[in-house]
Amino acid sequence: MTETLAANPDGIARAAELLRSGALVSFGTETVYGLGGDATNAAAVAGIFAAKGRPRFNPLISHYPAAEAAFEDVTSNEIARSLAAVFWPGPLTLVLPRRTRCRVTLITGAGLDTLAVRVPRHRDALALLCAVNRPVAAPSANRSGQVSPTTAAHVLDGLRGRIAAVLDSGPCEVGVESTVLDVSGAQPILLRPGGVTKEALEAVIGPIEHGVPLAGTQALRSPGQLVSHYAPLLPVRMDAAAVANDEALLAFGKPCNGTGVIFQLSEAADVIEAAARLFDGLRWLDAEGQRRGLRGIAAMPVPDIGLGRAINDRLRRAAAPRG
Ligand code: TXA
Ligand code: MG
Repeated sequence: MTETLAANPDGIARAAELLRSGALVSFGTETVYGLGGDATNAAAVAGIFAAKGRPRFNPLISHYPAAEAAFEDVTSNEIARSLAAVFWPGPLTLVLPRRTRCRVTLITGAGLDTLAVRVPRHRDALALLCAVNRPVAAPSANRSGQVSPTTAAHVLDGLRGRIAAVLDSGPCEVGVESTVLDVSGAQPILLRPGGVTKEALEAVIGPIEHGVPLAGTQALRSPGQLVSHYAPLLPVRMDAAAVANDEALLAFGKPCNGTGVIFQLSEAADVIEAAARLFDGLRWLDAEGQRRGLRGIAAMPVPDIGLGRAINDRLRRAAAPRG
């Protein structure tokens, strides 16, 4: 049984108690819903990998209510501190070296000597993290390789019966995951475009290098860059200029003609609105397309600026050959 908890003081207290007891609780953040577990409890974290069906070599992010708490577990540096000052709480994850006295169990970081840390800005998530008063490991609350959840209903679709509870704080505001930036070395490396844009990061710390997307086990050394990910069951085709009548359309701006099944990301061609609707759209088109026996999803082009980079990253992975 998976309980649905309302995001009020009682629900948050119950969710915190469950997490402290080692149970798994999904909670909403500004990006996507997380599948939370006590990051200091190896059994709880092993349960997260099992519930998701996630490969053990793909490390999890630890969540904190404030930067000071995060920097107790990792060694910060000037770049990390200036980014934290501007973007935390918010949709940015920093990869930094673990401290010797790091409380987070090694399995959370898949045995790496670095740890990904994040302070979300969603009010209920912050209240929960304060109440737990321990780092909370939380990958997106979907089965591994599937589309990330942006509502409690999405979470239950994939994880009902596999987790103790979901704290329902409504739809996620940003809609794509946090930006993951490795700041453990001299040169910051963008590992995953996300809710904080590259432009915004560069305005604070100057030019950023891109991590190279890796396939299969090559991703072992630089996880989180698995090429195929976020995939609906129907094949996805990007940069569609036209749509066939046996395809469903993920539209951005004025839809191309020719199909009955359309999900509009943003009529006004606004990348922020489109990001917030992306995963819901992929899920809906997937279900509706399969119901009608369509052969795939055609995605219209989205400009590669601002949140458009995160959208294109997710679409590219959804469109990648399945491994
Ligand atoms: O918005 C988000 O970040 C959501 C919410 C719940 O906070 N969480 C999320 O977690 O997207 P997850 O596990 O789906 O993605 C974490 C990403 C993965 O790509 C993982 O490989 C990368 O962060 N990552 C985690 N630890 C890392 C590390 N030490 N070095 C490099 N990449 C790391
Ligand atoms: Mg994920």
